[in-house]
Amino acid sequence: MAGAEGEAVAERFGSASFAGTIGVIGAGRLGGALARALVACGYRVDKVVGRSGDLAQLLARASGAAPASASEVVAACDLVVLAVPDGVIEVVAGAEHWRPGQAVVHCSGAVGLEALRVPRARGALVGCFHPLQSFSGDDGPERFRGVTVGVEGSAPLAAWLETMARDLGATPLPLEGVDRARYHAAAVLVSNDVVALMAAAARTWEAAGLPREEARAALAPLLLGAARNIEARPLEQALTGPVARGDVETVRRHLEALRAWPDLLALYRALGRELLGLALAIDPAARAALEALFADEVVP
Ligand SMILES: NC(=O)c1ccc[n+]([C@@H]2O[C@H](COP(=O)([O-])OP(=O)(O)OC[C@H]3O[C@@H](n4cnc5c(N)ncnc54)[C@H](OP(=O)(O)O)[C@@H]3O)[C@@H](O)[C@H]2O)c1
Repeated sequence: MAGAEGEAVAERFGSASFAGTIGVIGAGRLGGALARALVACGYRVDKVVGRSGDLAQLLARASGAAPASASEVVAACDLVVLAVPDGVIEVVAGAEHWRPGQAVVHCSGAVGLEALRVPRARGALVGCFHPLQSFSGDDGPERFRGVTVGVEGSAPLAAWLETMARDLGATPLPLEGVDRARYHAAAVLVSNDVVALMAAAARTWEAAGLPREEARAALAPLLLGAARNIEARPLEQALTGPVARGDVETVRRHLEALRAWPDLLALYRALGRELLGLALAIDPAARAALEALFADEVVP
């Protein structure tokens, strides 16, 4: 946005925090949580849109906002949050009549601001507000606390989004110039792929002769303990278990035990190689033996 227009918009809504009306298009997992959390910290969420009328009604009741159509939100609100799936951001943004000075943000980590080219061409401020958190449906405002939120936007929108993140109890992370696909892949590795790790662990648990349906309850506290270690310490110190101890024989036994499941074996080895990339304080001979065991070509 041109400097003079940006300054005029900043003057209207305040330069550091956003004082206008907010509309949310997409009453799903994130849209619902964000609308409720923004209302809880004093923002004016006036309208929400969900394709399913029931969801929008529910969210409207919970946030105090009125259910509306996407066009009504765009016509009435100063800041529009597109909390729709990544694949339809551009389609939804491209179908609406934006106006100069209005702001629109999407919530995708992987999609850049090019998906908002239509609102940008019509003079709207465009940005991104991407919480590095997993939302699953009925999350309360506390779900944002302590979280990092990737933000991007032209001035003054970027400053508003940073303030909005702080108001939610989160920490803003400027995303300008960041490789978005790699940034998002990092988030997926620790969020979604932990679910894949749990699924692999449950299969291994069952292969040990234990009931699969008990795996999640038995293993989840272990996962939470590891996550707390990671939160509190550098990775080298957070790691426990046979690799951290340089316990070659235990790792050898694991590999032998997984021989009948080549995909689990390959996963265990790939993760082992990643662990050996850490600066672990283990005996060099043990490190060399573990490197050999984790190499793909070695048959256990
Ligand atoms: N969930 C998370 O943990 C999370 C975290 C960070 C960022 N995000 C980002 O937030 C955005 C939304 O993700 P989500 O997980 O909240 O998705 P979601 O739960 O599937 O919700 C998407 C919402 O968009 C609506 N929608 C879908 N297609 C639409 C269309 N063509 N026109 C209008 N509305 C449409 C859906 O309506 P229906 O229910 O009727 O289909 C639903 O209300 C994505 O960009 C995602 O990357 C999500």
